[in-house]
Amino acid sequence: MIVLIDLVLMLIDLTYSIMCAVIRTIFRPRLKSVDGELCLITGAGGGLGRLFALEFAREGAELVLWDCNTEANEHTARLVRELGCKVYTYTVDISKRESIYQTADRVRQEVGDVSMLVNNAGVVAGRRLLECPDELLERTLLVNCHALFWMTKAFLPQMKARNHGHIVTIASTLGLFSTACVEDYCASKFGAVGFHESLTHSLLTEDGVDGVKTTLICPYIINTGMFAGCQIREELKGLIPPLDPLYCVQQSMKAILADQQMICIPRVMYFAFLSRALLPWDANVASYRFMGGDKCMYSFIKTKEQQQQQVANGHVKSS
Ligand SMILES: NC(=O)c1ccc[n+]([C@@H]2O[C@H](COP(=O)([O-])OP(=O)(O)OC[C@H]3O[C@@H](n4cnc5c(N)ncnc54)[C@H](O)[C@@H]3O)[C@@H](O)[C@H]2O)c1
Repeated sequence: MIVLIDLVLMLIDLTYSIMCAVIRTIFRPRLKSVDGELCLITGAGGGLGRLFALEFAREGAELVLWDCNTEANEHTARLVRELGCKVYTYTVDISKRESIYQTADRVRQEVGDVSMLVNNAGVVAGRRLLECPDELLERTLLVNCHALFWMTKAFLPQMKARNHGHIVTIASTLGLFSTACVEDYCASKFGAVGFHESLTHSLLTEDGVDGVKTTLICPYIINTGMFAGCQIREELKGLIPPLDPLYCVQQSMKAILADQQMICIPRVMYFAFLSRALLPWDANVASYRFMGGDKCMYSFIKTKEQQQQQVANGHVKSS
């Protein structure tokens, strides 16, 4: 009998959740304020990280910026200060667990408790698996996936103690479905998606932490240079063009400030995600072939090889 009552209650919950999601999609949900929050962003010296810093600064947050590239990170900090926002910079290589823990201790002592954590830093090897040095493959996993464990272990306890906080995971659509020649990246981003989901479930099953929120961001290719050269079939390029970084960050901000659990950018990517789950493998392969998605990374790898060759020849300055 109890199980039947629970079943009915679950069905009511389920219907209510679907209705809420539909309403949220049609009408704009109320966005929360992050004024005065202490927001830590990893990879703040680069494309999305820098834009996230500027968006959070405009919303009134205080910022802690982490990057392994000191110069790029300081550049972001200068832009943020021009907006009149308080900002603290730290040079950290987040592929190293001890560096994360040591720097997190410094942040707590020198600045305070972080209440918003944006795990944004990411890398990709950009080589074919059999030709890629092991260290490069390992680095992708350390930065894109393992660092999520150490960052969360370092900052979640204070969020839980105050029952207030937000952990944002910048994953990728390549954490929901995959393609050829990005084995390291897909493994790391599928890991990031799994990490985020399990962490969210853990917080939901614990008492007294309903004030700690999570958001998963899954963008398609963005024009930041990370996947420069990657392209689908020529005739379809215009239909799903690479995302403008600012658009991507603004859409992400809306999801974060609405405490939305997950967002795919652009929305059409939900179909790709669904088709991967629902269609037979061969049907997905056929649609990939039609779209040119099966070999879209070939041109990316070629571009990377050319860039590396130019660096080796001394034609361009290595970053
Ligand atoms: N660019 C895309 O097409 C795309 C698509 C989907 C998801 N994403 C994800 O979005 C996030 C941001 O990507 P982006 O395009 O802005 O990348 P980016 O290369 O422009 O910037 C990444 C930043 O991370 C920093 N970083 C790299 N390794 C680090 C380390 N070990 N320690 C500390 N900092 C480190 C870099 O210095 C750089 O400032 C990444 O997680 C990426 O995987 C990017």
